[in-house]
Amino acid sequence: DELQRIAHERGSAYVYHRASSELAARQLLAIRGVDRIFYAMKANPHPELLKTFAGLGLSFECVSRGECEHVMKVVPGIDPSRILFTPNFAPRSEYEWALEQGVHLTIDNLYALREWGELFRDRDVLIRIDTGFGRGHHDHVRTAGVHSKFGVPLFEMDEVERLVNLVGARVVALHAHTGSGVFDVRNWKEVGHMLGGLAQRFPHARAIDLGGGLGVPEKPGQVPVDLAALQGVIDDIRAKWPQVGLWLEPGRFLVAQGGVLVVEVTQLKGKGAVQYVGVSTGMNSLIRLAIYGVHHEIINLTRADEAPNEVYNVVGPICESADYLGHERLLPATQEGDVLLIANTGAYGHAMSSHYNLREPACEVII
Ligand code: LLP
Repeated sequence: DELQRIAHERGSAYVYHRASSELAARQLLAIRGVDRIFYAMKANPHPELLKTFAGLGLSFECVSRGECEHVMKVVPGIDPSRILFTPNFAPRSEYEWALEQGVHLTIDNLYALREWGELFRDRDVLIRIDTGFGRGHHDHVRTAGVHSKFGVPLFEMDEVERLVNLVGARVVALHAHTGSGVFDVRNWKEVGHMLGGLAQRFPHARAIDLGGGLGVPEKPGQVPVDLAALQGVIDDIRAKWPQVGLWLEPGRFLVAQGGVLVVEVTQLKGKGAVQYVGVSTGMNSLIRLAIYGVHHEIINLTRADEAPNEVYNVVGPICESADYLGHERLLPATQEGDVLLIANTGAYGHAMSSHYNLREPACEVII
């Protein structure tokens, strides 16, 4: 009822359930042997979620100066060591700024060490390693391998060591993130052992960051990440490399399921057997289907008690043929004014929205 009320009042809204994200955070905090969890705030930078996570003791992974400043504003007085800045192809000025602030800074390219070496003299830095294998739910979210723009490839490790010594920087941690939407815990096992081994080359290294990427099921029946198995992986890595701390930086896992998009039905139309339900917002609010072809469950909240016996394409008002929220969905016979819920949209939903066609994307509400 509350979701329907919000949809009728606001037209289209992302609604975040704080308790769900808190629960997800507690599940990860319960994993023994993880020293720090940095929330990858690109998934959802809503201030209330950031405050909730900060209150639970989480740290934050940021990919831009804007994200760093946002979390500093939302969590006043946050210790800079709780911010991990992992820029990629950012301008020199962002590195200078980060070093002034005292946040953890990741270098993911030899260019910075070669060309701006003086910046890093006597400084602590992390190095992002390209593991050589990318993982994840779509090519666009695999962030390792030569065809990925991220990280320092393994064949450059000697050069990293030489440059770090030359400029006088201290490598205090090694970092890797193979991709996003990963379900097989062997991913973090491979990454952990690789980074644990490489850390032996850097005398100041005191942590390895295994990245984020923990997948969240999109369809009913899909099996979630096995957290007990992940615990086993963490135990295994710690046993082999006891001298380095262990960090994780999940985004999606903490916020995806705690968020839904609610929309109102605007129009219906049929082209022969192909039926369309038009709704109040589209790819300007949720672009994940257009980019990755992913699946989000859709429910007609207004008719939750009625039998789903019609097949619809659920589309928005944007002038693009990719403007879909769902393909061929089984729903009850739907009418103008009904409220549809698009599930599992707390991560990379609003964060990737735009004003395309000069349509306001869905607003955000926290409950
Ligand atoms: N760390 C780094 C360095 C990352 O690049 C990312 C995500 C994360 C952590 C968090 O990954 P997560 O735990 O959320 O999977 N827009 C795509 C996802 C792009 C992820 C980009 N990097 C989507 O909607 O699926």
